[in-house]
Amino acid sequence: MIGDETNVLSSVVASQLSVHGKYGGVVPELASREHLRAMAPVVEEALARAGVDWGDLDAVAATYGPGLAGSLLVGLTYAKGVAMAAKIPLIAVNHIEGHIHAVILEARQRGEEIPLPALALIVSGGHTHLFEARADGSYWPLGRTRDDAAGEAFDKVAKLLGFGYPGGPVIDRIARYGNPEAVRFTAAKMKGNALDFSFSGLKTAVLRWVESNDLAAEIEARREVLQRNPNPSDDEWLEATPRRTRDLVASFQRTVVDELVQHAIRAADQVEAARALIISGGVACNSGLRTAATTRTIGLPVYFPSPGLSTDNAVMIAAAAFPRYRRGEFAPLTLAAEPNLQLAG
Ligand code: KG4
Ligand code: ZN
Repeated sequence: MIGDETNVLSSVVASQLSVHGKYGGVVPELASREHLRAMAPVVEEALARAGVDWGDLDAVAATYGPGLAGSLLVGLTYAKGVAMAAKIPLIAVNHIEGHIHAVILEARQRGEEIPLPALALIVSGGHTHLFEARADGSYWPLGRTRDDAAGEAFDKVAKLLGFGYPGGPVIDRIARYGNPEAVRFTAAKMKGNALDFSFSGLKTAVLRWVESNDLAAEIEARREVLQRNPNPSDDEWLEATPRRTRDLVASFQRTVVDELVQHAIRAADQVEAARALIISGGVACNSGLRTAATTRTIGLPVYFPSPGLSTDNAVMIAAAAFPRYRRGEFAPLTLAAEPNLQLAG
């Protein structure tokens, strides 16, 4: 909930990780059910923490895509209900634009304006996109993944190795104890647009490495660690993770990070007008990426969100809604959820 442009009155996030964890990934039906269960209590808590009544609201914003159809439907339908009951306008926000606005908002809170046009690299469990974010509020697509999203690669490799879900945070932790030079993975060779991404080849290469190194026993040991404690400490993980696997994990992360950084460098070369690089989405939490994507390596000032605003949250949706609110750009109550909504192009 945002008061004026940069003043966040409250932020409540309901996590479903414990629900999906045991399945090694998001189960769409469970996600819709959990959204339904959490929706009203989360909004009520956000209002209570902000000290705001329903009658004080000027507008309600919701994301209508891209994402899982069932989850989008729950949020959008609830927002329409609020709009109708409180007689306030509905603002429709693209989820990916939300990730970009999380970074713009935090810069403004520091009294800083991100110079535009900027390159925007959105890396999450569902998306890997490169855009040019222009000063007029439009987005020009530069590249996208042709197969898996970057976060999906982290999640699938973690699942394969018995580290549970979500994979990004645990791989990030284990990678610190391994040698990123130990296993050489080749970067994906792209035909056509050099700013497109591909991560499925790397995932297959990790699978081959696992098969040829006979990891069955240690994978089982890690599953047991997870059964004993859903949030294992570094020591608990390391005890079940021999050096070769720590090295594999570090090498995998290094390959993904290199791929992202190389694309950002290439985009900075290609888009001469670009004045900054915004990196957002769940994978923007990755410490390897944060260390590697610096102003020095990219040649542009680089902006990351704080970890709390990197993964999905409502503040980013409100932040993206604000310029629309000011322009009076409201959505009809007949608006449909669009699971494959594009940001541009
Ligand atoms: O943006 P997000 O919360 O949800 C989507 O819109 O997808 O991103 C979740 C993704 C998951 O794939 C998760 O494994 C990844 O972000 N992630 C990370 C890290 N923290 C979360 N990936 C790499 N390193 C991390 N530290
Ligand atoms: Zn997201």
